[in-house]
Amino acid sequence: MPYILSLDQGTTSSRAILFSHSGEIAAQAQHEFQQIYPKPGWVEHDSFEILTSQISSAVEALGKAGVRPRDVAATGITNQRETVIVWDRETGRPVYNAIVWQDRRTASRCKELTGSGAETMIRERTGLVIDPYFSATKIAWILENVDGARQRAEDGKLAFGTVDSWLIWNLTSGTKHVTDTTNASRTLLFNIVTGQWDDDLLKLFGIPRSMMPEVVWSSEPVGDVTTTLALSGIRIAGIAGDQQAALFGQLCLHPGDAKNTYGTGCFLLEHIGNQFVQSKHRLITTLAASVERRLEYALEGSIFIGGAVVQWLRDNLRMIRTSSEVEELAMSVPDSDGVVFVPAFVGLGAPHWDPYASGMLIGLQRGTQPGHIARAALESIAFQVADVLDAMRSETGQAIPELRVDGGAAVNDMLMQFQADLLGVPVVRPQVTETTALGAAYLAGLAVGFWKDPKEIWSHRKSDTRFEPKMHPAEVQARRERWNHAVERARGWSR
Ligand code: G3P
Repeated sequence: MPYILSLDQGTTSSRAILFSHSGEIAAQAQHEFQQIYPKPGWVEHDSFEILTSQISSAVEALGKAGVRPRDVAATGITNQRETVIVWDRETGRPVYNAIVWQDRRTASRCKELTGSGAETMIRERTGLVIDPYFSATKIAWILENVDGARQRAEDGKLAFGTVDSWLIWNLTSGTKHVTDTTNASRTLLFNIVTGQWDDDLLKLFGIPRSMMPEVVWSSEPVGDVTTTLALSGIRIAGIAGDQQAALFGQLCLHPGDAKNTYGTGCFLLEHIGNQFVQSKHRLITTLAASVERRLEYALEGSIFIGGAVVQWLRDNLRMIRTSSEVEELAMSVPDSDGVVFVPAFVGLGAPHWDPYASGMLIGLQRGTQPGHIARAALESIAFQVADVLDAMRSETGQAIPELRVDGGAAVNDMLMQFQADLLGVPVVRPQVTETTALGAAYLAGLAVGFWKDPKEIWSHRKSDTRFEPKMHPAEVQARRERWNHAVERARGWSR
């Protein structure tokens, strides 16, 4: 069986990629789906659209390559994390739309919880901070606000899942209600020290244990696809949240290995080994995907708006027609001419954790051109990553030797160079930047013996592109100070 199928269910699109044994892309397909914004700060998806867009991408990818299910050794599933789906176990119908990780509707509940002193216990057990980003308050919101949901949940009739669970439940005709350790570690309900759902946390958030999926390892066979004829019989053998999949796809498997993914958001993860470390610098600790089937940890800096700032220039300001035009526009000017763009459209994540921060463009003058705004937008991505890496350095007391990068915006050379300049360490881009999908494929392939071990995978890796820091340190400092001032102004704005 020459292929591994990777299903990459992201925030704005569902993708499927078929990988060969040497890690080459044999075929791929992608379907965007609707973003639903019922109120300011609310972000939802139609759970069935998530499912159908994912299935049709997979069927299309197989069709393009002329591959039958029996040619696929296994499939790995990777997904947007934290997003919450609650469905009826009997009918399989969701009781509400999927509430997306970016949704801020539970900001006031989080504030209350922070005031109640629960933060210490939460940090010690989950490695997370109290923020609407994570799943628990979103599940509780559904139970409180959907008619009859609390009672049905108490009666054991409702199931909760992150997107991986939802897909697997549907692909296996409702026989498997599972999630993996990496996805579980994003819920605020999973104890990452013991590797179990935590009864005290379930009680704190008012969530019945019967709703929770069984937790499996990221690299283990969990069941076969039974629902869709064109995919029938394919073994599901890998599951990981998209950022952990990317960490694995970059083969960051040892302490000190770090990657940043430039997707809708930006997520910088550094592997820290098999000892839990609680962050003192407003980062979070999360579970990394492990083929050893043991708990391994990563520090994470989650940035909510990364590549999405480019989509915003395209869709909201209509400054560019396609995202790839941004580089040319930004390069049409030598610098941002003092313009700073803080893209806090959904608050700020690490290291600020301010759900009330608001997007801001500052430093505009009569001579400001679209190029300056485009440049400031791209620079904002790199500034946020630099803030997170600073926090990581303070946490571990060590500078990373290089930052591996991937995701859509990593193809942008200007951004990568500016990133290396700000960080003062080389930025390394692999030839295949689809590392999220690749990571899920590796996890599945290793579980079924398609690859023997990570060493064999590493031997197929092609040469990388390196960006070395070039900017003078005084210039870097001046620019970062201006950025910091702007961030201070954007904070707390929508309170
Ligand atoms: O934590 C949210 C993250 O998993 C979303 O990733 O790639 O859909 O922006 P992405």
